[in-house]
Amino acid sequence: MRRSRWPPPNADTRYALGSVLNHVVLHQSVIGLEAVAQLAAVEPDGADVVFGCAGGGSNLAGLAFPFLREKIHGRSNPKVIAAEPAACPSITQGEYRYDHGDVAGLTPLLKMHTLGMDFVPDPIHAGGLRYHGMAPALSHTVELGLVEGIAVGQHDAFSAGVLFARTQGIVPAPESTHAIAAAAAHVADDPSEQVVVIGLSGHGQLDLPAYAEFLDGNF
Ligand SMILES: Cc1ncc(COP(=O)(O)O)c(C=O)c1O
Repeated sequence: MRRSRWPPPNADTRYALGSVLNHVVLHQSVIGLEAVAQLAAVEPDGADVVFGCAGGGSNLAGLAFPFLREKIHGRSNPKVIAAEPAACPSITQGEYRYDHGDVAGLTPLLKMHTLGMDFVPDPIHAGGLRYHGMAPALSHTVELGLVEGIAVGQHDAFSAGVLFARTQGIVPAPESTHAIAAAAAHVADDPSEQVVVIGLSGHGQLDLPAYAEFLDGNF
């Protein structure tokens, strides 16, 4: 299997270390505050399901926590789904315990879902999701039953990315395709009319070689 040269093998931990920290989650909550306000203008009952991809947890938690605020106050009742890669399933298969956020063990210990700081995932194209832990704030909401994890395989993720590009005209980042795949599977399972929110965490313009590999049938 050919693999993309970017990101380099040990870069992912450096990217995601920033996003596992709770203050990064807080900063990204501007996305969820905006999404709740925009949705209220067209759907007074709010969202039924919120999907986001989860690497260190910041884009999902930033989007979902304002929706969970609405749920906790009884104003709506959304489900929140964290779509993580099958190659790095910290929520669905990790332990909930204290661990370091970096491979060198220099960060303070964080209580989170973790595969262990030494875990080295397969080099999937969604480099931003190759991180061993999950933000403590997001891990806590998983423990409370407010957020559910789903593991998505790389092939299914890219299939959903191609579908999204063809129907919406936006090429999603490989990370984001995990959320799209989970949402597409959910809607296929339950085609009743629902308000579904998907976090599109990034575009895939720099990932076209990965899409080319997928379309060539290489994975
Ligand atoms: C486009 C994109 N989406 C998602 C992520 C995952 O990070 P997080 O789960 O913290 O949002 C990354 C990380 O680099 C990314 O680049």
